[in-house]
Amino acid sequence: MGRVVKILSLYAAITLSSAALYVYIISSGKTHDFRESAVQSVSLEKKAAKDNLDPEPDTEQHTWHDTLSIDDSVARELSTQTRVLCWVPARASDITKSIRAVNETWVRRCDGHLFFVETKQPAWDIVSVGVDGAKRLAEKMYAATVYIYKHHLDQYDWFYRADDNTYAIMENLRLLLSKYDPNQPVYLGQLYQVHTPHGYMTGGGGYVISREALRVLIEEGFQKNKCPPVEGHGDDIHIAKCLHAVGVKRHYSLDKFGRETFHQQSAQEVIAGTEPTRIMKKFAHFPQHVGRNCCSELTISLHQVDPDQMLVLDHLLYRTSVYGRVQDPAKLKDLFQNKTIPMP
Ligand SMILES: *[C@@H]1O[C@H](CO)[C@@H](O)[C@H](O)[C@H]1NC(C)=O
Ligand SMILES: *[C@@H]1O[C@H](CO)[C@@H](O)[C@H](O)[C@H]1NC(C)=O
Repeated sequence: MGRVVKILSLYAAITLSSAALYVYIISSGKTHDFRESAVQSVSLEKKAAKDNLDPEPDTEQHTWHDTLSIDDSVARELSTQTRVLCWVPARASDITKSIRAVNETWVRRCDGHLFFVETKQPAWDIVSVGVDGAKRLAEKMYAATVYIYKHHLDQYDWFYRADDNTYAIMENLRLLLSKYDPNQPVYLGQLYQVHTPHGYMTGGGGYVISREALRVLIEEGFQKNKCPPVEGHGDDIHIAKCLHAVGVKRHYSLDKFGRETFHQQSAQEVIAGTEPTRIMKKFAHFPQHVGRNCCSELTISLHQVDPDQMLVLDHLLYRTSVYGRVQDPAKLKDLFQNKTIPMP
């Protein structure tokens, strides 16, 4: 009980300070069918599933989306131009816990999604690739990216891989990606400068590659054997080595104030922490600040979010407004820039 209250008050504090307006949407006085708009751009499979989005009417027989005063037309417009496939590797034992929470929250705002799980519980969005175990994530990444390349290369511009305890704000990710050309080899995420001379984008914050990066990863890296051998590291480290071997450069995702957008760390550590942890100091290529400067106003991801926290965070970000505050998308439009990160 005490823990739940603590989590709730932490997130309430986040909401009531500036961070609630992370979301790239504006509030307006008019009633808006949020559910309708949220699903407009998603894939066909998802359209079929639309009626499950908000099944419970409230006591006055209004569904939640009927009662929200949020106008997300700017975010929707962007999602017609920047199409992102999200993919999440997970364990079968997480299907009823973390996968459910991910599937009920942020993943709905991807243009398409896939869970890579070895399981006998089939679902249209679960793919089994015959590789299991936390120690075999690099091999799983291999199989998953080959699968995505074969079946989805031309359907999406970008491919975002996150953990099942990552929470991502897709509207903010799309704004960042809109600064880049998916026909160029682009690789983005939170850069940790360790394990390889050129570092890697962390799997917990999630990494994104462009369509062209996926193409060269498979056609040059995998099919022509240009990748170094898998060394039992995480998939995030291995894909970084492969992308480097085929000439995909690291690209910049901090905002113009130098604040991080992807976060390998938890909200507790970066927002409520008193000083950077040892890992942040040792690994993060760009200094990871804590406290008010920790995170961009258009933060993209947080890690180590448990399933309950995920529902709370989603509620605070998408179903809670702070009365009297209106966000101006024009002021945030240029928060991100497009540039490569020079090699060390
Ligand atoms: C995720 O949610 C969609 C829409 O409700 C549903 O069709 C799908 O089966 C769910 N997937 C999993 C793995 O629970
Ligand atoms: C950066 O933006 C310019 C101008 O919009 C574009 O031509 C270029 O391809 C972009 N770079 C990448 C790596 O996407």
